[in-house]
Amino acid sequence: MASNRVVAQIKERLDIVEVVGRYVSLKRSGRTYKALCPFHQERTPSFVVFPHTGTWHCFGACGEGGDIFTFVMKAEGFGFAEALAMLAREAGVELEPLDAADAQRRQRRERLYAICEAAAEMFAEWLWTRTEAQACRHYLKQRQVRPETARLFRLGYALDRWEALLKALTARGYSEDDLEAAGLVVRTDHGHRYDRFRHRLIFPIRDVRGRVVGFGARALDESQQPKYLNSPHTELFDKGRLLYGLEIAKEAIRQADRVVIVEGYMDVLTAHQAGFRNVVAGLGTALTPEQVHLVKRFTTNVTLALDADKAGLEATRRGVEAVRQVLDRRLVPRMGRRGRLQPEYELQGDLRVAVLPDGYDPDELIKESPEQWQALIEGALPVVDFFFEAALRGRDLDDPRERAEVADQLLPIVAEIGHVVLRAHYAQRLARLLRVDERDVHAELARYRRRSRERRRPSAPEVPTGAGPAGEVPAAEAYLLYMLLRWPETLPIALDMGLQADDWSMTEFRVLFDALIGQMPSTADAVEELLADLPAPVAERAADVLTSYDRYPQPPQEAVEWEVRDKVDAQDTCPQAGV
Ligand code: UTP
Ligand code: MN
Repeated sequence: MASNRVVAQIKERLDIVEVVGRYVSLKRSGRTYKALCPFHQERTPSFVVFPHTGTWHCFGACGEGGDIFTFVMKAEGFGFAEALAMLAREAGVELEPLDAADAQRRQRRERLYAICEAAAEMFAEWLWTRTEAQACRHYLKQRQVRPETARLFRLGYALDRWEALLKALTARGYSEDDLEAAGLVVRTDHGHRYDRFRHRLIFPIRDVRGRVVGFGARALDESQQPKYLNSPHTELFDKGRLLYGLEIAKEAIRQADRVVIVEGYMDVLTAHQAGFRNVVAGLGTALTPEQVHLVKRFTTNVTLALDADKAGLEATRRGVEAVRQVLDRRLVPRMGRRGRLQPEYELQGDLRVAVLPDGYDPDELIKESPEQWQALIEGALPVVDFFFEAALRGRDLDDPRERAEVADQLLPIVAEIGHVVLRAHYAQRLARLLRVDERDVHAELARYRRRSRERRRPSAPEVPTGAGPAGEVPAAEAYLLYMLLRWPETLPIALDMGLQADDWSMTEFRVLFDALIGQMPSTADAVEELLADLPAPVAERAADVLTSYDRYPQPPQEAVEWEVRDKVDAQDTCPQAGV
């Protein structure tokens, strides 16, 4: 397979000691190199790199190991495709594009990335060198943003002119069309183009790999509206799929094993500047599943820091829903009816909510009292307790009507709790508060659980006709199926993570998946046999998937499990993708 040659080539050209050495400080020890393991906390080095085999292994608590690909995947929080792209570029190995259209799309995206990067450089240069930027520098000073913080976040200034960026970037050879596609210039109905951001403090927004994909821009004068102007939705910039500051915070998030999500860009800057480095912000929208998916590579523990006026139940519930959809589920066998074992899934994440004192946002609180901020975050309530507190605030529980309202608010929340012990605990608390029999609460909870299960069951999807895997079939699904067909030994992992027949949007895929889990083949030969027994349309679809993805570079054996986990997660968060 040509593709495996690519992986081998990359391994040949890159020195694992050099690559790993960028993340940890390696000490030579005979034929190997040692370091403190970057993936868990330890005092004595048990992380070893073996240059002659191109592998690494931690002999300490985490026991992880693999090759250069798995290392980069883990260290950067990448999927295999991202790690491959990064390492291929470094090794100077050309990745073959799937087809001409794909190559074109990729080139166009590369151009947009280059434009965003060039714009960020331009804005920063203007901020630090132009006399015209004095007001902006003064503003930063007044808000106590230190120069090193401004540089770390690559802040910039958009000049107060209509065509400053337009001219600067077209002079560097970028086309006006591409500038518009990158969201940096606006076009009037008459086709006249001008800069979107003028006389504003610029916050470049980067993806988890550090590539600039868009901008947030703050007004410097009260009269300027809106206060914050963001890039519009572009091919690179999707508010719901980015977190401000994640690239800078990711290491600290992993170390703290918790991410704190605040609301504003300025809050992130102030937090980092005060040494709270595991802090990121949304981009002006409620937390989305895609954002949880982003941080999940670094931690499953999330603290939402909400401004008092926004700590409404609704916003929080949306955040909770986002977290619930994404965070790891654990399969636990439970004794069901008639003594049969029934598997159930439990959330493994821990979501907490911290509400800021009235009139403060994190920026203001941290500046006034870092200690108070720290205490607030440390004392954040587990989300269910937060809901209890919010629902009970100002209630007169002697009034049966008010008790009924409290019940309506809290029953659906308690019903969603996955762990039977926790659910029982809150049910008991609810029964006492509402002054009803605990058995009645449990009966109500069962009703809510039934209802929400029914709501979540997807309706039968349309079956696209005659599409190859690169066509109308959702690519992520096709690829996951490919992984499961080529490496059937990963099926138990996918099942354990909660992948179900219902998760596939195409009938053929569901039939295939059903057949796979019905027989649990453990070798490629067993898969071939199984395929031969399937109805022709399904077998053909499977053959399509196999031949189409065999052309891609293959993940090395050590990365297969990671890749499957990554793709099952993706499947979980975007079941409708591409259909
Ligand atoms: P805030 O208005 O709370 O921002 O909006 P802030 O960070 O406290 O701003 P400062 O301290 O006055 O500079 C929080 C977030 O909501 C989005 C931005 O992402 C902002 O960081 N927002 C706010 C907008 O997109 N547009 C706006 O006009 C305002
Ligand atoms: Mn603020």
